[in-house]
Amino acid sequence: MTYHSIEWLEDSGTLRLLDQRKLPEATEYLDYADAEEVATAIHDMIVRGAPAIGAAAAYGLVLTATHSQAQDAGALRDELEAAAATLAASRPTAVNLFGAIKRVMARVADEELDTVAGLRDAVLAEAHAIADEDVRINKAIGLNALPLLPDTCTAIHHCNTGSLATVDYGTALGIIRTAHEHGKRIQVLVDETRPRLQGAKLTAWELKELGIPHRVIADGASGHYMRTQGVDFCVVGCDRVAANGDTANKIGTYNLAVVAHENGVPFYVAAPTTTIDLDTPTGDDIEIEERTPDEVHYVGQTRITPAGVEVGNPAFDVTPARYITAIITERGVVYPPFEENLRKLLRE
Ligand code: MRU
Repeated sequence: MTYHSIEWLEDSGTLRLLDQRKLPEATEYLDYADAEEVATAIHDMIVRGAPAIGAAAAYGLVLTATHSQAQDAGALRDELEAAAATLAASRPTAVNLFGAIKRVMARVADEELDTVAGLRDAVLAEAHAIADEDVRINKAIGLNALPLLPDTCTAIHHCNTGSLATVDYGTALGIIRTAHEHGKRIQVLVDETRPRLQGAKLTAWELKELGIPHRVIADGASGHYMRTQGVDFCVVGCDRVAANGDTANKIGTYNLAVVAHENGVPFYVAAPTTTIDLDTPTGDDIEIEERTPDEVHYVGQTRITPAGVEVGNPAFDVTPARYITAIITERGVVYPPFEENLRKLLRE
């Protein structure tokens, strides 16, 4: 089966998103004609995963440019500024969201684009470029990781980082996919990833579609598997890598990294350079999204906590750089000291 997290429909000038809240029970697509609705879709996690929300936001701006009634480029620019602000407010942690919006708005600022049609075409071309690059980047990350992986191996993966979390192919899951496609005998222990269960619902669905052997485990079981059964490496995605290598990713990543360190298991972060943010000095400078308590109170429709109790629901955590063995990017594999080597990589 072929599925797309994000698809631009040129004939109707609309954006189609796969409703990831419905998976794995149903594969339903929703069509969008308005940037504000795309911002809500990002916030509500119809589309999710750092690269996917970046691309969705870029196409959100295309929707504004496509359906605007503005009579001149100046008026359209104002509308695009407003849409950019709304999209940027949808989720705070993934830097791809801000990077994609900034990139499109840099095109919008080009004064040589002085017609509504010219601006619209430029915004669309930039969104397509962001989407196309994402797929190329992910495939390159997979290839760069290949030499690090044993021919027969067991990996632990957290959250969802596959085609669903990107425009296509995936980052950490792309590494697993590339290994499988290159004949490595790889099996995956899939962290279920409480509270939203991206691992159990989405990663298991993708691995099943790809025919890659896997087993879903409770998040708390990863240490047990590392200590008793042998795990060759952990591989995760990221929402923002700070200049010193500290990495924000789905809640629970930090716990996994500490247990990996304790057990001498390599801990790899798959990072498109679009997720590396040299303007953020350390992990302490990354805003961590706090989501609705109901994600913890309920599993599906069933409330699991007693009435009246308080819960905390940070969507992400920060893994300090010292627990990360290597950051695998499309430009190559980066080892510590990350502060120095990330800068070097991005300069090259
Ligand atoms: O809250 P989510 O589902 O958007 O979180 C996703 C993750 O944490 C991913 O690991 C990250 O965005 C990288 S996706 C290639």
